[in-house]
Amino acid sequence: MIVIGIETSCDETGVGIIEERKIMANIVASQEDIHSVYGGVVPELASRAHLQRIDNLFNLAIKRNKLKIEDIDIIGVTNRPGLKGSLLVGVSFACGLAYRLKKPIYFINHLHAHLSVNFLNGNVEFPALGLVISGGHTSFFYIENYINFKEVGKTLDDACGETFDKVGRLLGLPYPGGPNIEKEAEKGNENSIKFPIPMISSNSLDFSFSGLKTAVNYYVKKYGKKNIPDICASFQKVVADFICKKIRIALKKYNVKSFLLGGGVARNLYLQKRIKEVIPDNIKLFIPEKELCLDNGVMVASMAYFLNINSIPPDQNIIKVIPTKVR
Ligand code: KG4
Ligand code: ZN
Repeated sequence: MIVIGIETSCDETGVGIIEERKIMANIVASQEDIHSVYGGVVPELASRAHLQRIDNLFNLAIKRNKLKIEDIDIIGVTNRPGLKGSLLVGVSFACGLAYRLKKPIYFINHLHAHLSVNFLNGNVEFPALGLVISGGHTSFFYIENYINFKEVGKTLDDACGETFDKVGRLLGLPYPGGPNIEKEAEKGNENSIKFPIPMISSNSLDFSFSGLKTAVNYYVKKYGKKNIPDICASFQKVVADFICKKIRIALKKYNVKSFLLGGGVARNLYLQKRIKEVIPDNIKLFIPEKELCLDNGVMVASMAYFLNINSIPPDQNIIKVIPTKVR
């Protein structure tokens, strides 16, 4: 079974193809060059760029694998959550493809997709806990099986990656802040500045990052930006302390066999090391390959594949909903 996944929810245009659990293509066009000038994603520019790129990416993914478009059995497309205009590009493209090929289409939740890319690995045991740490979201999921995801905690304000990006911007680092903060932090002392750990006495699985961002802002206003590596290392340490604390609470609340990570921030090697330290040996930890942490089409294809093999009907029979005659 060949499944294609289309991802356009934010600032990456992604087309992924899998055959059963094997990745055949993972083509991603990043828009970093477009948005870096503004220090953040500009929704209107993002949707225009998706529109310009989606056709070529699709053709590239098909041709590289010497496939014919008729070989596609199932289509998956992210339809939530995300930037409305950007989502519309991917959904329209995927619906057009489904209509043309008369093949089933699945509308996919972007956050479930981030975690489901770990399923391709084949060894996930359920129940599992999943944590998405991305530019737009920070959410815990209790995952009963391949298809049932229950959100059990989320950020009350800024997302984790968004906080990295905003702190990066106020330090004058290039966009996106996340990878640049990680790089600077390698040269710094993580114990040099005591930023406050958010929600220190809360036992909930929700997150809040805006206080930490404000603390870094006040620090920079008071002391300037002379010691950027120390600021980055100290900030990154508090983010890791906070996330690890929440993981410990989650593992006390839920008896699980696997723990899945997903989202762009999961690429951070310091964070990965800290998270590995809090996951006990009897729980399997899954972290996607570097390129599968960021938004991509493979994760969307993966979610569509697992919905399909677990007998979930396609979301919509697109052939019926689009009128065949135009008056
Ligand atoms: O998952 P993703 O591609 O997009 C969303 O779904 O939002 O994640 C992008 C986010 C950005 O905020 C970026 O700064 C962050 O992932 N990121 C990182 C690292 N690499 C990417 N954050 C911290 N450390 C990194 N190495
Ligand atoms: Zn994402």
